[in-house]
Amino acid sequence: MLASPPVRDPRSVRLQGDGFVLRAWRADDLEPLLRHANDAEVVRGLSSRFPHPYTREDGERFLAGEVVDFDDPVFAIEVDGQACGGIAARPGQAERGQSAELGYWLGRSMWGRGLMTRAVALYVPWAMQALSLHRLQANVLTFNEASARVLLKNGFIEEGVARCALVKDGHAHDLRVFAKVRRSLCDAP
Ligand SMILES: CC(C)(COP(=O)(O)OP(=O)(O)OC[C@H]1O[C@@H](n2cnc3c(N)ncnc32)[C@H](O)[C@@H]1OP(=O)(O)O)[C@@H](O)C(=O)NCCC(=O)NCCS
Repeated sequence: MLASPPVRDPRSVRLQGDGFVLRAWRADDLEPLLRHANDAEVVRGLSSRFPHPYTREDGERFLAGEVVDFDDPVFAIEVDGQACGGIAARPGQAERGQSAELGYWLGRSMWGRGLMTRAVALYVPWAMQALSLHRLQANVLTFNEASARVLLKNGFIEEGVARCALVKDGHAHDLRVFAKVRRSLCDAP
């Protein structure tokens, strides 16, 4: 039987980065969340769990924990005291429990400053340790070069392409698959 991950309430975690903080989402994040999330350019690279337009009701449902499971480490990226994006890892079930999927986004006004590169650099080692992960995977739509760069700069390996993996806006898309593994924890040679 696989060991359970160590119990640690992600709601109490606060990770201090260089110019930003990673911490749990709070009800008073609603206004900045709406300001940054309601943007077609942000949503373009994300799954449809992140709708567009992003309404007040969408924000309220998200902050109430009705969209993603806040028992997982689903963190706001806070800059100057305000949430401006998010980062999360969603572990799999049963025999996939030591594997998780990484996702992240930032409000457009914050792009291009190296912020997500630094946020991933802080979050990933923490999450792999806290969740006892063997593998952390990120799936990137083929047009999303900025996201691929963030992963490559953080030591993720590009493993291949999942062809026609999803349909978004009426078009089938391939997904580039990136992952980081802790080989020392893996039985395979
Ligand atoms: C993808 C995203 C998180 C990047 O965040 P960011 O803070 O702007 O990223 P960084 O500044 O840390 O790094 C971006 C890198 O991509 C590069 N880049 C940016 N746009 C690019 C483009 N169109 N083509 C190629 N490279 C690009 C930058 O030059 C930088 O690389 P470098 O440091 O080697 O020069 C942000 O654009 C975003 O939130 N997009 C919308 C949501 C999303 O797509 N999330 C990821 C889903 S997989």
